Amino acid sequence: MSDSIGPEPYKFKMVEPLRQTSREDRERLIAEAGYNVFNLRAEDVYIDLLTDSGTSTMSQFQWAALLLGDESYAGSRSFFRFQETVTNITGYPYVLPTHQGRGAENILAAMLIQPGSVIPGNMHFDTTRAHIKLKGATPLDLVIAPGLDPEDCHPFKANIDLGRLEGVLQEHGSRKVPFVLITVTCNNNGGQPASMENVRSAAEICRRYRVPLFFDAARFAENCYFIRTRESGYQDREILRIAQEMFSYGDGCVMSSKKDGLVNIGGFMAFSDETLYRQACGLAVIYEGFPTYGGMAGRDMEALSVGLQEVLELPYLRFRIEQVAHLAGRLQEGGVPIVLPPGGHAVYLDARRFAPHIPQREFRGQALVVALYVEAGIRGVDLGPSMFGEEDTATGHEKYPDLELVRLAIPRRAYTNAHMDFVADSILEIYHNRVNLRGLKMVYQTPILRHFTCRFDYA
Ligand code: F0G
Repeated sequence: MSDSIGPEPYKFKMVEPLRQTSREDRERLIAEAGYNVFNLRAEDVYIDLLTDSGTSTMSQFQWAALLLGDESYAGSRSFFRFQETVTNITGYPYVLPTHQGRGAENILAAMLIQPGSVIPGNMHFDTTRAHIKLKGATPLDLVIAPGLDPEDCHPFKANIDLGRLEGVLQEHGSRKVPFVLITVTCNNNGGQPASMENVRSAAEICRRYRVPLFFDAARFAENCYFIRTRESGYQDREILRIAQEMFSYGDGCVMSSKKDGLVNIGGFMAFSDETLYRQACGLAVIYEGFPTYGGMAGRDMEALSVGLQEVLELPYLRFRIEQVAHLAGRLQEGGVPIVLPPGGHAVYLDARRFAPHIPQREFRGQALVVALYVEAGIRGVDLGPSMFGEEDTATGHEKYPDLELVRLAIPRRAYTNAHMDFVADSILEIYHNRVNLRGLKMVYQTPILRHFTCRFDYA
């Protein structure tokens, strides 16, 4: 058998009908939504690539596991099964469920961050940045330079720049740096992985300065798959063993189970250190729930325990990563500028090169997102200035992020490659007619995480 993408390593037992709307409908619906796709109704979307978060299809084993949920307030059997699963994968004995990833981030921030703290990482995701800033601290993105170049084919574009990390720790020390956070894979620059060697070296630096290292593990299995396929010495290693090694270099993790947990809601944090765990439990009781459920139903912890094991299976991961690569390959063949190499959970269009005729201040990524919806009913998301830019309140000017990307996130086990081909054909069509793309102006925004609620109009 060839190594190229084969069919799905599963078949469908339940289907959810999709609805196609007319172009005229979509023009009206997107105008009513203030040209912000977060304001659309999902049933008005044909192929929903807004996010891979909470959009996975569960397996028959996960649905069956739901029936085993123990809904006891304290000491639920489902919690202990879940804890055992997480500890087996991470090696961290202390596990605290949360309602989703940002619940875990909130607790980590409340435990460890002081006003004036500095939090280095490879690239913090938006909710993480928001939690850090809400505590009066500064998030520092120290990803290596190739990580910020969409055309650079470096195999590990989420690697943290070790020299800069050491520099920050030397300057501020553990007094100002309560922890370092490595996000695997890195969502902001293309679903890119960090290498085992980079994680190991970063951990060694952190240890020298007595600063704990945490992982944002939302897409840990996809990161481990890239280590297996791209880093020498790992080709024959089970994904579970790769994950165990990776986590062994850290002191704990925060997790959005909505991604590589293969469930629709949930999160957790896990620690190697009991003192940190006890501290987290104190806050969990206020913000999340009693430490053996932390915002999750017993049945959801059961489904998550199964999902965390299924996500490590090689046939699943191989198809997953190759499906993303398939869409990326179709676009690349047609000359569409995308982030290379393709990442783990999404294909990212480079809006800067896609629509250079639209000025930066006119949200060219968002213009592309709007066109994708109007032309084909596909929902992507702008990971450019609308999400990572911000208005400088002193000057009223926009501060622009390094990258202007449009993310097409692929839900796990949800769409077929025929769907991906439809997406590719639609984007190629828009690319050929790209001179017609129109810029936007933001007419309403909030100070924090503005992309969820902001509104636009044509510029
Ligand atoms: N960390 C990363 C790397 C993420 O991508 C996300 C969420 C979170 C943390 C927060 O987790 O949603 O469970 O609270 N990312 C979603 C996305 C929203 O679309 O990429 P959460």
